[in-house]
Amino acid sequence: MNVIETSGLSKSFGNIRSVIDLSLAVPAGSIYGFLGPNGAGKSTTIRMLLGLVKPETGTISILGNSVNRLRNQALNEVGAFIEDPDFYANLSARTNLEILGRLNGGISAERIAQVLTTVGLTARADDRVKAYSRGMRQRLGIAQAILGQPRVLILDEPTSTLDPAGIRDMRHLILRLAREENMTVFLSSHILHEVEQMCTHVAVIDHGRLIRAGTVAELLGESGKIIFEIRVRPLEKALSIISAELDTRPTDVSGDSIKVAASREAIPGVIRRLTAARVAVLAVIPRTSLEDYFLALTAGLTE
Ligand SMILES: Nc1ncnc2c1ncn2[C@@H]1O[C@H](COP(=O)(O)OP(=O)(O)OP(=O)(O)O)[C@@H](O)[C@H]1O
Ligand SMILES: [Mg+2]
Repeated sequence: MNVIETSGLSKSFGNIRSVIDLSLAVPAGSIYGFLGPNGAGKSTTIRMLLGLVKPETGTISILGNSVNRLRNQALNEVGAFIEDPDFYANLSARTNLEILGRLNGGISAERIAQVLTTVGLTARADDRVKAYSRGMRQRLGIAQAILGQPRVLILDEPTSTLDPAGIRDMRHLILRLAREENMTVFLSSHILHEVEQMCTHVAVIDHGRLIRAGTVAELLGESGKIIFEIRVRPLEKALSIISAELDTRPTDVSGDSIKVAASREAIPGVIRRLTAARVAVLAVIPRTSLEDYFLALTAGLTE
């Protein structure tokens, strides 16, 4: 069963086409990474999922209910975190959560204390929110999202202001929520490494359009091109041989390293050419991270 489904979703702002014909299927129990560079349309999509922005075309259903027609039912079991969430800045985190709990029909003091511990805010829970750092506000944003133990969690860049330890904690928290509380998690990020470490599924968008979607394993294992890092000496001579042999430009060149998109099958031929031309091949390293995958994808698109 798909927990979130969109079909043909589009939204423009003036003449900027933010999201174009986007169809997504988020399976139950997945941690679904929604990946794309700045301005790709991630936040706009998430705002449409949450009924905050009305799509021009297309449909959205969450847990089988249409967000357009049955917004309240559809979002009843959804917890969400979006950029710059609103809090009562003069009140503490605990009081903010109490107010929210009352709006949601009553949440126990124990649950609030538990959620504060979960996001690592216990020590500062009774300080005013206006004295919080950005990372602390982000943790409070996550706390309000999970307060009511939703079945679906939708997070727009949940780690964008956290420090490395905070990012690791958030990753563990999301994995735990998915495993122990059976939540389906949909989160956006432009940090590809993060998505790779945490997600079961991923969709990549760019300029509002879906480029790829599938399980992380499928995407990384696709038989198509991946990025190889080839370390060589001398560099200049190797550059022209590699470009000619693979019929493509490198995605990155620095020091003795050339990164280039290629299929696995093409690599032995490249090494033979280089060796024949007396270029020393120091190393050939397949880069299978999503970051390199994304580079390989977009390199293919722009050529
Ligand atoms: N309210 C708005 N008014 C005008 N343009 C908007 C509005 N919201 C989004 N856009 C435009 O839509 C495009 C997609 O923006 P969006 O915020 O969805 O991207 P994003 O993928 O979330 O990027 P980021 O990684 O920077 O958060 C951008 O070109 C942006 O300028
Ligand atoms: Mg955004």
